Amino acid sequence: MVEVSASKTEACNDVSPAADWALEISDLNVVYNTGVRAMHAVSGVSLHVAEGEAFGLAGESGSGKSTILRCLVGLPPIASGIAKVTGHDPRAGELRLYRTCQMVFQDPYGSLHPLQTLDRCLSEPLIIHKIGNVDKRVRQALDHVGLGAKFRFRYPHQLSGGQRQRAAIARAIILEPRTLLLDEPTSALDVSVQAEILNLLADLREERNLTYLVVSHDLAVVDFLCDRLAIMNQGLIVEELSRDDLCRQKTASEYTRMLLSASDSVWTKA
Ligand SMILES: Nc1ncnc2c1ncn2[C@@H]1O[C@H](COP(=O)(O)OP(=O)(O)OP(=O)(O)O)[C@@H](O)[C@H]1O
Ligand SMILES: [Mg+2]
Repeated sequence: MVEVSASKTEACNDVSPAADWALEISDLNVVYNTGVRAMHAVSGVSLHVAEGEAFGLAGESGSGKSTILRCLVGLPPIASGIAKVTGHDPRAGELRLYRTCQMVFQDPYGSLHPLQTLDRCLSEPLIIHKIGNVDKRVRQALDHVGLGAKFRFRYPHQLSGGQRQRAAIARAIILEPRTLLLDEPTSALDVSVQAEILNLLADLREERNLTYLVVSHDLAVVDFLCDRLAIMNQGLIVEELSRDDLCRQKTASEYTRMLLSASDSVWTKA
């Protein structure tokens, strides 16, 4: 077991909260391209995630889910509105904010350089953020995600899909963030490995009291990991539900009902 509390003291990464919300999205509009090619990916979306909460974003492909996550790390062009992490705008490029909030991509190669060993991939953020005890922290992170030291000098292509996703999660947690943005964290994996990764994410959240924003097209994943969720369609929030509402299929929207009927496992859990 990793000594979380000891390392937390050393790598204390909190950016002083400038707001009550861990994640704040208010009337957010994102438009890709201009003129006739303009693409309104997100239209007037508002959602708020409290510290320690796990919030899900579900919806069909192209509905704008990843765009919202990417706004929280300062990537897409925001036309108007607010996307903040602990009250801070990620576009300001504050290095400390990147320690507070990390993203796990659907494709682990989004986090892992194919030509770098896991040792290098995991050491790099520590060096950038001038955090000491690199050797110890890399070993701890690999242990914590169930990989262990024997994987340390492997390249990403020398891992199975599930091991690669564990390595990507190790890279996300090595800076001891308060918040993880999880973009389809299991959709590239087969069903048995999906369960392992979901259990790992649930355990990490409990141990570290992490805040999660989880994107998935699979309502069963959202149901497993999240306390609340929003359903998106064509750049809009269709409705917000509690996990309980989801399990009982208490929905006000025909679109959500359609999504539920397409996601078989949630029905059987109610
Ligand atoms: N860089 C970009 N330039 C232009 N259009 C983009 C860009 N990124 C995304 N889009 C468009 O914005 C819309 C929303 O994309 P986004 O990736 O947020 O959807 P998503 O809900 O995450 O979909 P999926 O479930 O397939 O990952 C899509 O129509 C997509 O084609
Ligand atoms: Mg996406």
